[in-house]
Amino acid sequence: MIQHPTIVILTGAGISAESGLGTFRDDGGLWSQYRLDDVATPDAFQRNPQFVHDFYNARRIQARTAKPHSGHLALTKLQAEYVGSVIIVTQNVDSLHEQAGAEVIHMHGELDKALCTACHHRWRAPDIMSESEICPACGSPSGRPDVVWFGEIPYHMEIILEHIAKATLFAAIGTSGEVYPAAGFVEEAKLNDAHTVELNLEPSSVVANFTETRFGPATDIVPKWVDELLDVRFH
Ligand code: APR
Ligand code: ZN
Repeated sequence: MIQHPTIVILTGAGISAESGLGTFRDDGGLWSQYRLDDVATPDAFQRNPQFVHDFYNARRIQARTAKPHSGHLALTKLQAEYVGSVIIVTQNVDSLHEQAGAEVIHMHGELDKALCTACHHRWRAPDIMSESEICPACGSPSGRPDVVWFGEIPYHMEIILEHIAKATLFAAIGTSGEVYPAAGFVEEAKLNDAHTVELNLEPSSVVANFTETRFGPATDIVPKWVDELLDVRFH
């Protein structure tokens, strides 16, 4: 049986940066403006739900006006034109990959969704969520942003690891390599002898684990990389 090659691409905040959404750990990033423990843990939400909602409300409003760039569009083109499968896994909670027309697995959840802590129903989040956000399914005031906080288990891990186990090529784009399990995906991919490539503005914390590196802004390096991949396969 002919095995079609599988590419798994992990994206992080760096791919959204040139769409105007701030990253977490760059100079002036979100984690220099907020304490992670105040806004991105289950404890924080229990202590001060309104503060946490305010943080995600601000990010949601900003994300809803952002537009995808040439890097997102290139990945969509790769997904459409590549001979094998192209699985995009994102740590980002914005919807820029979908807006660009790609199919994407959101391992850290989505700003566009609300989650009921009582019955686990999900619905489209309004621009502004509040402390007493009513669940449309069970009626309890138990809405939270459907984002994965520190101390919670990322979504879709089983299927992601299945894809990585089949990957012939693994790429990480715009991610600092500071947050696990995503930062460990490259090592999983190497267990299958995948070629691994890091595309980032600068070397990440786990750069030593990649066999190939390309540094620069995503709008520049991602379209070039995609064109090379499609050229090699078709000409
Ligand atoms: N093009 C490419 N890479 C860029 C660009 C750009 N224009 N701008 C910044 N970067 C790179 C930075 O050099 C950095 O290595 O993107 C990376 C962003 O790193 P982080 O801010 O740490 O974002 P990310 O890796 O996605 O964070 C992981 O941490 O707090 C959380 O849950 C949040 O999903 C997030 C997770
Ligand atoms: Zn409910």
